[in-house]
Amino acid sequence: MNVRELQDNIIKLKKSTNTAILAHCYQAREICEIADFVGDSYKLSVDAKSISEENIIFCGVHFMAETAKMLSPQKHVYLSNKHAGCPMAEQMDKEMISAIRAQEPDRTVVAYINTTAALKTVCDVCVTSSSALKIVKALNTDKILFIPDCNLGNYIKKQCPDKDIKLLQGGCPTHARITANEVLAAKKEHPDALFLVHPECTPKVVDLADYVGSTTGIMDYAKKSEKTEFIIGTENSIVEHLQYDCPEKRFYPVSRDLVCHNMKLTTLPDVYNTLLAISGENREYCEILMDDELIAQARKCIDEMIRLGG
Ligand code: 13P
Ligand code: SF4
Repeated sequence: MNVRELQDNIIKLKKSTNTAILAHCYQAREICEIADFVGDSYKLSVDAKSISEENIIFCGVHFMAETAKMLSPQKHVYLSNKHAGCPMAEQMDKEMISAIRAQEPDRTVVAYINTTAALKTVCDVCVTSSSALKIVKALNTDKILFIPDCNLGNYIKKQCPDKDIKLLQGGCPTHARITANEVLAAKKEHPDALFLVHPECTPKVVDLADYVGSTTGIMDYAKKSEKTEFIIGTENSIVEHLQYDCPEKRFYPVSRDLVCHNMKLTTLPDVYNTLLAISGENREYCEILMDDELIAQARKCIDEMIRLGG
């Protein structure tokens, strides 16, 4: 079967199995093409609430499928590749944060959505890269513990100098890989290009940016800009998507190593096999199963994110 035939079969199976497909924009082009919703972590969380289909296949990483399950608990939610996890989401756990809370009970715990459901149960509000600044500013407290990404946390802290924001040492290993020297080399090679960067990058890299934003923030900025050349400081699939969407503009990866191997685990056959499993065939699949108590406790800070970020 070639890619086009596989996509056609997936589209038919989506209908016959009453399934919606959500894809994070770090997914491969051929997966985004068959998805019903494509976007950054915030957009997909909001989308997950509104889905009418009985089944959801999430093409992304585990915490995202878990979030979709919490927002649509009555639905069957599947992760298209069971091995796709976010290393950042595993860096801190419930016990570690509960211990800090016990020592500093007056700090509001703001958790990047890239955390496990278990950890979310001891946090006050979630944020994503596109909603973090708005939500932190909207909180009626000045004492915050921001976890787990200290790079995103630093970016927020600089813009909220009046708030006391405590950070811990965590972050995205993919974005943290980019160095300021790589950015300077890319700027030298493409002197007319704007540098658009994700706030998961280190402060030294973010300081060199013309624009800082989430994955969809970067895409929207590049599409609307009158400029024609851009160096992209986030996962390299965004370079590819932008080059499809804006063929008259030029997009350059800041580094060829800016690849999230977890996001890249999902393949079109994974999606097809999950749909076949939903339709009753004997195929391997990964359904997200969570008990009601965990959903009720962990969901509170996601609801709070949508309330404050909307
Ligand atoms: P956003 O989807 O918020 O841009 O975050 C990027 C990311 O690394 C998701 O894991
Ligand atoms: Fe996690 Fe970073 Fe990959 Fe996003 S890009 S899934 S934060 S490792």
